[in-house]
Amino acid sequence: MSDKIIIFDTTLRDGEQCPGATMTLEEKLEVADLLDEMGVDVIEAGFPIASNGDFEAVSLIAERVGNAVVAGLSRAAPGDIDRAGEAVKGASRPRIHTFISTSPVHMKYKLQKTAEQVHEMVVAQVTRARNLVDDVEWSCEDGTRTEHDFLCRCVESAIKAGATTINIPDTVGYCIPEEYFDLIKMVRERVPASDKAVFSVHCHNDLGLAVANSIAGVQAGARQIECTINGIGERAGNAALEEIVMALKTRGDVLPFDTGIETTMLTRASKLVSAVTSFPVQYNKAVVGRNAFAHESGIHQDGMLKHTETYEIMTPESVGLSKTNLVMGKHSGRNAFRDKLQQLGYELSDNQLNDAFQRFKDLADSKKEVFDEDIEALVDENIATAQDRMKVLSLLVVAGTMGPQVATLSLDIDGEHKTVQASGNGPVDATFNAVQALVPHEAALELYQVHAVTEGTDAQAEVTVRLGADGTSVTGRAAHPDTLVASSKAYLTALNKLINRRDRLHPQAAE
Ligand code: KIV
Ligand code: ZN
Repeated sequence: MSDKIIIFDTTLRDGEQCPGATMTLEEKLEVADLLDEMGVDVIEAGFPIASNGDFEAVSLIAERVGNAVVAGLSRAAPGDIDRAGEAVKGASRPRIHTFISTSPVHMKYKLQKTAEQVHEMVVAQVTRARNLVDDVEWSCEDGTRTEHDFLCRCVESAIKAGATTINIPDTVGYCIPEEYFDLIKMVRERVPASDKAVFSVHCHNDLGLAVANSIAGVQAGARQIECTINGIGERAGNAALEEIVMALKTRGDVLPFDTGIETTMLTRASKLVSAVTSFPVQYNKAVVGRNAFAHESGIHQDGMLKHTETYEIMTPESVGLSKTNLVMGKHSGRNAFRDKLQQLGYELSDNQLNDAFQRFKDLADSKKEVFDEDIEALVDENIATAQDRMKVLSLLVVAGTMGPQVATLSLDIDGEHKTVQASGNGPVDATFNAVQALVPHEAALELYQVHAVTEGTDAQAEVTVRLGADGTSVTGRAAHPDTLVASSKAYLTALNKLINRRDRLHPQAAE
């Protein structure tokens, strides 16, 4: 039996499906590109029947992804399966992932079908999918609460009908590792042609056991793990990709399995997914949390100085963190800056580099220490603003206990300079009212979030603004040592995105 574990990433499907994690099309493409580059074997790009937006995202991802298999999810209904087949057909390696619930509680209350009817649907759904693509995955939703004889019967029929991967999800995150191990082993042993399919695990984290259960499933013979970056997903989320990959890599002595993941890209993937979903990564999150490689107590620091293995079981470099975070300052030159950007994985054109360098210098003048995170925030903002029609020229805000707070804002709108003064219920409200006065719009503010990029009172504030209009949402982010400047820029970034999108889709409205 092969020791290679297939990493099936469902950040763009199960991850995106959780409340508040919606991504725009551009953001999904960016995440898909990174997953492919990182060595993910299967990218579940979405649920094509769910919306036209999902269909478009899956189709575009299918066309651009070079290495990974691209999967689209479908229920058992013929229309669902056909839509998934249509969405993935441009992929060099397309997969349809089709599922149906098999547990008594799901069949009775959710599907309102008998076991016999569900069994017929299993055969029909896999057969239909197999007529569209060669690579078909079948999942028994709520598999871990399914009656064993029925589970084995459905798995056997799915394999006979042509399923090449069989996924046994712990949909409600109910299992403990020993139970999950026994379940996967039992199905593999009892189903006659089980060796004709790859067995897959898909574990939710309701009891915090998703990663442990996934690993137990692999020890019982599963060879595909379904997971998400940062563990995002329905409710408490899915098994975290970075934790699984690093557990297998670090504990190769007792877990002799390989993944094809370039682990030095894990931190970058985590940051990207956190930024596009606006889900912060908890500080003490395993592998990618900001404290995962931080040592503060005297005893730990003393041990680390003597030998890093005293308190570190993996190196920060192995997950893409540079050990010395504090390297750039106001005396750094353009070459050092370019070098730093390359280390951080950016390739900028000369113009983008000049622009970013200038902004780095401005930042270094106003901030004692410039960390990698500061540079990433600054460059990400730089790339996004290249085609924008509106830019912040200046902002002056009068705030404090003596309200009302007043913002004087100047914008460059299509090359024209415009200034307005507006008041509001607090400085952020005043700033946003000034934007509204200069650029009247109907978009609704759906989210406003502020994070400190690093520590200290001079840290840059990273602001996220989400605006909704015409049934879509866009996210704008900006970083600046002044929270209000970052807020105005983030708001304008989101507004620019909405306008760019409208201009792209309805060019006649551009006037
Ligand atoms: O959790 C689950 O059961 C799922 C299936 C659709 C695979 O996400
Ligand atoms: Zn799931």
